Amino acid sequence: MGIILGIDVGGSTTKIVGMRPNRELISTMMVKAYDQLTSLYGALGNYMDTNGLPLSDVEKIYITGVGSSYLSGSIYGIPTIKVEEFSAIGKGGLWLSGLEQAIVVSMGTGTAFVKAKGNEFMHIGGSGVGGGTLVGLGCRLTSADGFDSLCRLAEKGNLKNVDLTIGAITKQSISTLHSDITAANFANLNSDSTEADIALGLVNMVLQTVFTLGVFAARGTDTPDGPIVLTGSLTGLHQIDDTREAFSALYPNEFILPPHAAFATAIGAALHGC
Ligand SMILES: Nc1ncnc2c1ncn2[C@@H]1O[C@H](COP(=O)(O)OP(=O)(O)OP(=O)(O)O)[C@@H](O)[C@H]1O
Ligand SMILES: [Mg+2]
Repeated sequence: MGIILGIDVGGSTTKIVGMRPNRELISTMMVKAYDQLTSLYGALGNYMDTNGLPLSDVEKIYITGVGSSYLSGSIYGIPTIKVEEFSAIGKGGLWLSGLEQAIVVSMGTGTAFVKAKGNEFMHIGGSGVGGGTLVGLGCRLTSADGFDSLCRLAEKGNLKNVDLTIGAITKQSISTLHSDITAANFANLNSDSTEADIALGLVNMVLQTVFTLGVFAARGTDTPDGPIVLTGSLTGLHQIDDTREAFSALYPNEFILPPHAAFATAIGAALHGC
């Protein structure tokens, strides 16, 4: 007894984590969400089996994410509590980063921005530009057939072949803007641009949009220069390191990529119980 499960049934993937009452994280697991209820029960069975845990060890389940709305009642008779997604995002982001206060960004199918301070969580707003945009446009505009193949393609791309940079449109430096900074995403797209260039251009456009909105979200708070914690599966993109470096040079905010970032929302849900 005593194990708390946190389950985040998102628009694209279902994440499950187990925690002991002392907040020790047992392990994490992600499954792709074909349909929300099937992936929820599949993830749960897979998780218990993989970790050699009997269901009777689970004391409570805390469930969140858009897909949690499909669940009515408890799971296998175990007390099941629904957690509001934005408080799960905020709680998970703060706990993983060890911060008291931050803007927590959930980079998922879409993107959500949460102001988190102690146990207060406020949904600042969201954007439809996220991982779903990347996969949808990427699979239509290149030969990629999913997230993984799109990422492999993007690694061979060259951003200069799709994006217009500040350096390409002016000889004078503009205030603090370095010549390599994107002036307009895809404005340099031409018949020589390869599908690898397009894949990288999409990755870059989504990341830049999320980071920019994160900075603007912080500006509307009492700590405009405060830290921005990045969570969600899109944090797994390799290119995020380059985006962090570029944005750290542009803005005063610190961009934090905590461990287990893809599981922050599921962890935040579980933390409601321990
Ligand atoms: N293994 C994977 N399977 C599917 N998508 C993945 C995977 N790894 C990374 N991604 C990317 O991450 C995005 C989903 O991110 P995440 O799992 O955080 O979202 P979600 O929680 O399902 O959605 P939301 O929070 O918006 O409801 C996908 O759109 C895709 O771009
Ligand atoms: Mg999510």
